[in-house]
Amino acid sequence: MIKIAPSILSADFANLGRDVQRVSTADWLHVDVMDGMFVSNISIGVPVVKSLRKATDMFLDVHLMIEKPVRYIDAFADAGADLLSIHLESDMPPGIRAALDAMDKKGVKKGIVLRPITSAEAVLPYIKDVDLILVMTVEPGFGGQKFMEDQLPKIAAIRKYIEEFNPNCHLEVDGGVDPKTAPLCIQAGADVLVAGSAVYGAADPAEAIRTLRGEI
Ligand code: DX5
Ligand code: ZN
Repeated sequence: MIKIAPSILSADFANLGRDVQRVSTADWLHVDVMDGMFVSNISIGVPVVKSLRKATDMFLDVHLMIEKPVRYIDAFADAGADLLSIHLESDMPPGIRAALDAMDKKGVKKGIVLRPITSAEAVLPYIKDVDLILVMTVEPGFGGQKFMEDQLPKIAAIRKYIEEFNPNCHLEVDGGVDPKTAPLCIQAGADVLVAGSAVYGAADPAEAIRTLRGEI
């Protein structure tokens, strides 16, 4: 079953509560946290996640685009995130390990994320310990960019690793997912699709969610 995770980066932040309700038929809510260092953009932080937790029961899939994320795991877990995903490029391996251990202690689900430049093999040291692997199909930092088709072989390669080493691990794709590119991601082995502009830019977000799932 394919899960759709609308990205609130494309929502109207002055009407966030309303915009979360507009995607309530989706499976997860994707929350993009950007620090202005790991990526050039700055988006939202811990207080917004706290408010989202009060506003919805949806599964909060929090994508941390921040340097040395180990510094903020406890804060985002306490704010109510259900899953935290950290970029493999955001710290040295001991820092990544420490961040995953901190997630374990807090009882949140653990994800690792790969920028387009990072190869599939980079997941191997962590694959048995994580609940989700996220493949970026745009350079992280902004919504509304074009899907990078050259990432499809990487998605397929990671799907094979998942089958071999951790079949329960989710494989998520983020960036430029729309009704045309969603089937390519699913065919390559993704089971969670993040979509910002394709959902919030649609006249009927609920219909867009069903379309992305392949239901209509
Ligand atoms: C980009 C973010 C994405 C973004 C996706 O750095 O991680 O989640 O919101 O937006 P679309 O679906 O418009 O590419
Ligand atoms: Zn994201």
